Amino acid sequence: MEYQKDILCIGAGYVGGPTMVVIATKCPQYRVTVVDINKEKIHAWNSDHIPIYEPGLDELVKKVRDKNLFFSTEVEKGIHEADIIFVSVNTPTKTFGQGAGKAADLQYWEKTARQILANSDRGKIIVEKSTLPVRTASAMERILNGNPDGIHFEVVSNPEFLAEGSAVGDLENPDRVLIGSKETEEGRRARKEIVEIYANWVPKARIIESNVWSSELSKLTANAFLAQRISSINSISAICEKTEADVNEVAYAVGKDSRIGPRFLNASVGFGGSCFKKDILNLVYICQSYGLTEVADYWESVVKINEWQEKRFIQNMLSNMFNTIAGKRIALFGFAFKANTGDTRESPAIYITRGLLDERAEVVISDPQALINAEIDLEDVKDSLFFEIDPYKAASGAHAIAVLTEWDLYRNLDYQRIKEAMVQPAFIFDGRNILDHQKLFQMGYNVFAIGKAPLKHF
Ligand code: NAD
Ligand code: UGA
Repeated sequence: MEYQKDILCIGAGYVGGPTMVVIATKCPQYRVTVVDINKEKIHAWNSDHIPIYEPGLDELVKKVRDKNLFFSTEVEKGIHEADIIFVSVNTPTKTFGQGAGKAADLQYWEKTARQILANSDRGKIIVEKSTLPVRTASAMERILNGNPDGIHFEVVSNPEFLAEGSAVGDLENPDRVLIGSKETEEGRRARKEIVEIYANWVPKARIIESNVWSSELSKLTANAFLAQRISSINSISAICEKTEADVNEVAYAVGKDSRIGPRFLNASVGFGGSCFKKDILNLVYICQSYGLTEVADYWESVVKINEWQEKRFIQNMLSNMFNTIAGKRIALFGFAFKANTGDTRESPAIYITRGLLDERAEVVISDPQALINAEIDLEDVKDSLFFEIDPYKAASGAHAIAVLTEWDLYRNLDYQRIKEAMVQPAFIFDGRNILDHQKLFQMGYNVFAIGKAPLKHF
């Protein structure tokens, strides 16, 4: 069959995988190939156990895989055949050299650019799908267009706004799709090609076209604004705990103002995930490198409040459990950075587990999807931990439960049965405010939620 477009995606991760699955589903007239250097990951994408847990994704993969969607490790062949290449490799925070701890590590990105150059005998459109520092497109073009054969590559920015746990819905019905290019004739032509892909299912009014720098910067800005909302409400949660105001009531009242809006105001143990922290720190680094110290400090404080919120959670546990948790069994309900994913990158649970271990607590980790990743994250202290998928078993013999992920599963457990198997007095620390605190208090638990007055029997 002749395909209208031959699309390649380099990077079969949380973004590349689901995005290409949805493009292949919506556009049977295109051939979509996803390549990755990680052989096990590609093998998993081609098996019955795809490498990421994302509601609804399994079913879609089954529909299109080996029809117009292909997963492969043949990166070079893929580059050779494609007209349009989405690059969705990881761009973590740099851990070494200049900018360590803040700047984006672009080594995977640059390697990809060089691979594209080495395996292309004609011009192609290169789409920045990864989240990148503003002005990366110009570095990319310099590498690509410096070739002696005069092959021309056009770099387009098309950042991804999906959130994990709702990736399929976010991709099928996005608030907006953003496509930035150079404002030249060739740039606009390339942009139009990418618009054409999304126009297969996204209403035109939701496809935003912009210059390439605005597009790159909008992605960092969107994540910074979202994280800022969480840090803002989390900072208020601390005042609520001191004043008997209730953070849920405050968030509800504040969010009713249509200028503010109700979403993303859930106070929590802290935001996690692979992107918020890294992208804000990247923004901070960019500001610092332009000498914008005040702007850098402003955004860095969003990350600092988040770190403080995580630390505060551990301190609350310690001080309320009579200032010692040494030898006490503590069950963590949830380890993923949010519900409906097995992803644990930058999960607050990692920091909290380590903090509890420092206090010599006996920590039992429970999570319906994230136990394998939890074991990897905590490899160095694995022998001091217990991993138990069944929350009833995890809480048996425990002094305290800490809810760290808002899985629905934890809302509906038999907490009476759980309490009877716990050491008394039993404590619950609800880091996600998902439980019925009054009911638990009446059962005899001492209940500590985020941004609410404590409910204690002593
Ligand atoms: P990921 O780590 O899950 O996936 C990246 C993949 O790229 C890995 O499988 C890796 O093996 C592969 N890779 C690296 N170098 C390669 C190369 N040279 N050739 C082939 N494959 C290579 O990362 P992710 O979560 O999918 O994030 C990718 C990018 O998307 C990041 O820039 C991130 O900031 C951005 N982003 C992520 C999310 C999210 O929710 N995870 C949402 C929006 C944007
Ligand atoms: C986030 C953004 O929401 C996406 O738009 C973006 O594409 C993505 O980052 C990215 O660039 O990687 P994600 O990190 O997958 O998506 O998940 P979110 O739903 O944003 O949650 C992030 C963290 O904030 C989680 O730990 C979550 O529990 C926490 N959170 C979220 C709160 O504590 N309170 C809230 O009200 C909302």
